Amino acid sequence: MADNKIYRASTFAPVNIAVIKYWGKRDAKLNLPTNSSLSVTLSQDDLRTHTTASCSSQYPKDSLTLNGSDQDISGARTQACLAELRTLRRQLEESDSSLPKLSELSLKIVSRNNFPTAAGLASSAAGFAAFVRAIANLYELKSTPTELSRIARQGSGSACRSLFGGYVAWQMGEEKDGSDSVAVEVAPAEHWSDMRAVILVASAEKKDVSSTSGMQQTVATSTLFAERIANTVPRRMQEMEKAVADKDFAAFASLTMKDSNSFHATCLDTEPPIFYMNDTSRAAIRMVDMINSEAGNTIAAYTFDAGPNAVVYYQAHDEAKVAGVFKSVLGDKEGWEGARGKSVEAANLPKDSQ
Ligand code: ADP
Ligand code: DP6
Ligand code: CO
Repeated sequence: MADNKIYRASTFAPVNIAVIKYWGKRDAKLNLPTNSSLSVTLSQDDLRTHTTASCSSQYPKDSLTLNGSDQDISGARTQACLAELRTLRRQLEESDSSLPKLSELSLKIVSRNNFPTAAGLASSAAGFAAFVRAIANLYELKSTPTELSRIARQGSGSACRSLFGGYVAWQMGEEKDGSDSVAVEVAPAEHWSDMRAVILVASAEKKDVSSTSGMQQTVATSTLFAERIANTVPRRMQEMEKAVADKDFAAFASLTMKDSNSFHATCLDTEPPIFYMNDTSRAAIRMVDMINSEAGNTIAAYTFDAGPNAVVYYQAHDEAKVAGVFKSVLGDKEGWEGARGKSVEAANLPKDSQ
């Protein structure tokens, strides 16, 4: 260890909200999914994680602070990300002896989410994408977004999709070691640039059942789940890719809503049942139904991750009919808090964060 300098790098990462959901692991250790999934990356101008990674011989041990509180980083998933990133840095150091030996220094990671954590708004996705990219930037790794997505996947599955902007698939892959279980861009944001999302925060509280444990209970106990992964999701992945390619909003919306309901049905079919949606979530579903029937066609699509908060997709030219209705009906009604009715553009990541 040559010096006691502090080396530092920062990044932002966006959330992504799946329209075909990842729910189920075929290998919990490598964090490999039972099915492929597809998501839309939202603009990080609105919901985002900011993470700074630094390393120094002054630091006694690796640490992570999230929104000001110390996190336990001893878990296998965080450790797997750290080990992979350090190995890549070590390879660089071995090939160029003039590089400082950052791989030998303790890391200090400081992260902030500007939206509710562990509430079903994909904090683990933005969180681990930012975690991995901040360290990759610090280590000056030459890794591509695809390689980083393979590493981030081990921290949290959904995180692999947050390394890309636009419309992103996580291919479940076939290899035993997970080397092909990575995210790929299905279409850039500009392909369908008037896609919007309005986020309805029904509750910013931490969920009772984390995504990790919820999906493992579903795999172990739900009978509906087998049908979902064998037939339903593979068919919908193809249909969704076509809907995105064709910019066919009615098809996109129908698949999005069906897949959200199918995922929540497997949660209800879990023993003991898992309830991520609440009365407010169901009211949001009714409102979307009402908006669509009044419009005479499908102009809005709801989806819920593992939490009660609704994400409603629509196209910019329907802003008044969709986001406008939500904003006017909800107003300051009790039960709706936080980023109420804020609409978010589906977006590409700025080039400097890739
Ligand atoms: P969510 O629906 O928000 O993704 P999860 O249950 O999947 O909820 O994951 C929440 C967990 O993700 C948090 O408890 C924390 O361990 C991790 N996480 C969230 N944000 C970050 C972050 N910025 N950096 C590192 N880890 C994070
Ligand atoms: C419902 O990626 O949070 O949001 O891999 O265990 O960290 P872990 O789970 P996570 O699960 C996300 C589940 C989901 C659907 C999705 O994002 O595809
Ligand atoms: Co998550």
